[in-house]
Amino acid sequence: MQQNALTRRSFVKAGAAIAATTAASGLWPASARASAAREFTLRAAPSKSQLLPAQYPATPVWSYNGSIPGQEIRVRQGERLRVTFENALAEDTTVHWHGIRLPHAMDGVPYLTQPPVRPGGKFVYEFDAVDAGTFWYHPHQKSYEQVDSGLAGALIIEEKKPPRADRDITWVMDDWRLQRDGTMRADFGHMGDVSHGGRIGNFITVNGADMARLKARSNERIRLRLVNAANARIFALEFAGLEPMVIAIDGQPVTPHRPDDGRIVIAPSMRVDLMLDMTGKPGSRTVVTDKFYRRGQQRIAEIDYAPKPLRGSRPDWPMNLPPNPIPEPDMKLAERHRIDFHGGMMAGMAVQRLGLEMPAAMNSRQGMMRMMQSGKIWLVNGKAADGYTPEPFLKLAHNRSHIIEMVNATAWHHPIHLHGHSFRVISRNGKPTRHREWQDSVLMNPLEKVEIAFVADNPGKWMFHCHILEHQAGGMMGVVEVA
Ligand code: C2O
Ligand code: CU
Repeated sequence: MQQNALTRRSFVKAGAAIAATTAASGLWPASARASAAREFTLRAAPSKSQLLPAQYPATPVWSYNGSIPGQEIRVRQGERLRVTFENALAEDTTVHWHGIRLPHAMDGVPYLTQPPVRPGGKFVYEFDAVDAGTFWYHPHQKSYEQVDSGLAGALIIEEKKPPRADRDITWVMDDWRLQRDGTMRADFGHMGDVSHGGRIGNFITVNGADMARLKARSNERIRLRLVNAANARIFALEFAGLEPMVIAIDGQPVTPHRPDDGRIVIAPSMRVDLMLDMTGKPGSRTVVTDKFYRRGQQRIAEIDYAPKPLRGSRPDWPMNLPPNPIPEPDMKLAERHRIDFHGGMMAGMAVQRLGLEMPAAMNSRQGMMRMMQSGKIWLVNGKAADGYTPEPFLKLAHNRSHIIEMVNATAWHHPIHLHGHSFRVISRNGKPTRHREWQDSVLMNPLEKVEIAFVADNPGKWMFHCHILEHQAGGMMGVVEVA
């Protein structure tokens, strides 16, 4: 056991730091801390992967444990993970556990929560799996290049009693900007991408292949976990002839429901868990198509039915997930805050459309020129972030309820992500949401206003940013301090 190996002094110190972040909120049960951890190793290194169909060369990528996506890590809720990470890249990196509510020191943001892991260096991440659900991991250093180069993997935390399904399958969806020789175009952080919708690739993969190919049987029930690991691409999936039921969003249970207009919309960094009843005929084929962008609809999966059904009729088993232990925000006592987003192409038009005032940084030709030249062209409450440790732009009282009104005064979509917490999405453009879904990244449409609510129960300085990674690099980022 690692803890026994520590000297008493360092143990007391480390223990005190963990106790300080956990005891106050009571989120991390002592019993889990005392039990043995599940051990994993992750190694980030250059490798090659056959992303394109076989007639094309393999693609040089960066990967975890040599595979695209990285090894799926699976544990049970309540277990403790200990992940020994090794950096075999030629540059600094970190591992961020996206959507996991964990102690600040394990969050994997360079300079803010830990020193970056140097080339050849190691870091041990250790935390309790407090919430069951579908999560993922990726670097938080130069994310727009490191994530796009292939560093991403799923982290699945199983419920103690999962709802019945015949199979449990994960699809990590990604896209790439590939050339005919198999290499990636190296134009990471290109200003055209930063100022528009981000680096959208020309080639989609599901679990590292050009498409998911699934063999199914009629009346089988599949739990399908979707992860969007792309830098910028938003998916809107249509399951021809099937009726997918959404049972979780961003890992968190939601009242099982059919998505609006039948499409599963999943923005970068988001996860959606589906219950998929395979209601097609034996021997038939069905397809899954991405229809988010009007141009370039693409088939992302083919599902072939075996000649014999699995059972005589469609399953009618319950599909509700047990709730996770997230504190419920008190709407009456909640403190209110507001965050405005500005910038990008057509920024002025967007501000005018909402009848808002122009932020000072954008108010003159010189200001705009300065933004363009520095590449910092997205603003959070009037400021573009530079580096990983900007002064907190928002302070939230610890263990209090907060409602944040967010205004997307831009012409672009933004999946806005907060670290260390899950929040309820309570309204869109003033209209209460139907499911008050818990999320850690909320997709804001152009000009949209979204309200979120949560208890700030996890102390620390937390990253808050757009998960279109080029927007993040272009300044759409800040630090929220819970104290
Ligand atoms: Cu998925 Cu700040 O990250
Ligand atoms: Cu954005």
